[in-house]
Amino acid sequence: MATLIKDIKLPDNVPSNILFEKHIEFLKEYGQDENNYEYGMMDYLRVSGMYWCLTALEFMNASPSHTIEEVAQYIKQCQDPESGGISACIGHDPHILHTTSAVQILCTYNKLDVIDTEGVVKYIKSLQLPDGSFMGDKWGEVDTRFSFCAVVTLSLLKRMDAIDVHKAVDFVASCKNFDGGFGSRPLSESHAGLMFCCVGFLSITNRLDIVDRDTLAWWLCERQLPSGGLNGRPEKLPDVCYSWWVLSSLTMLGRLHWIDGNALKTYILACQDTETGGFADRPGDVADPYHTVFGLAGLSLLGHKALQKVNPTYCMPQHVIDRLQLKPQILL
Ligand code: FPP
Ligand code: ZN
Repeated sequence: MATLIKDIKLPDNVPSNILFEKHIEFLKEYGQDENNYEYGMMDYLRVSGMYWCLTALEFMNASPSHTIEEVAQYIKQCQDPESGGISACIGHDPHILHTTSAVQILCTYNKLDVIDTEGVVKYIKSLQLPDGSFMGDKWGEVDTRFSFCAVVTLSLLKRMDAIDVHKAVDFVASCKNFDGGFGSRPLSESHAGLMFCCVGFLSITNRLDIVDRDTLAWWLCERQLPSGGLNGRPEKLPDVCYSWWVLSSLTMLGRLHWIDGNALKTYILACQDTETGGFADRPGDVADPYHTVFGLAGLSLLGHKALQKVNPTYCMPQHVIDRLQLKPQILL
């Protein structure tokens, strides 16, 4: 059956390279003014936002606007002493997404000692349900994103023993669909973002044998559109963040070469805002740190020499993963 292809036309003047200085300035200034309306509106995603900005700067070998000590002290204040979980900002309820981002930041800067890491382990353990799945927080939403976050966090802390890994694998395996893809829960539609989470989960748990490698890789490489960009599901527009979700999954599956790398590179470079700096989802849209980190990470996977090498499972600098002596599974 034919599917509708929605795409965009690339602008005429696509930058030929990464606008490093613009992006560094954009990320250093983003969300710095506490009196600004947007600052308050972004409370609910602050710690993950810090992970996007700081990781993007790290990929470009640039230093952040705050000291590492200030960053670490902010995160420390977001840890809930009772549950051990970490929240998006001071005073909010803890959530696994921000707990993972916090641990990723602290590992990158070798600063894990500022938080109660045993509290984090206790929190992640408390979110596992009898069927092996994970809730995002105490309110009970279940999603394969949270299974991924659980194993990212615990593997970075070297405490995978705290959860039932067999049951966790069974749950993720039960989310596999007829098309080789994965969704958020059993019987949920295949989605490239969730495929990254499930493939990443299986890479960390060393269970990539569970995937139907070529069926899955075929679904993923079909996400590339004539513009060179990738979408997250059939019939959707291209979006630069899928350069990460799709490309990292293909890398873990040893099928990166199934994508036209040059065409994708041109699409990603076209998503740069030449005035404000930063990357947007599509050329001409408003740039933000989320699409900036995943645009840069995609270019790093494509082998851009001026960027630090990114690890496809953790979306962190490879040198950090090496320092921690982690060896997530990659199919060759
Ligand atoms: C698209 O969301 C993306 C996803 C569903 C994946 C989210 C993944 C995580 C939160 C884990 C992140 C961890 C690391 C280490 C990077 P969307 O809501 O934009 O989807 P849409 O394009 O369908 O709207
Ligand atoms: Zn996006």
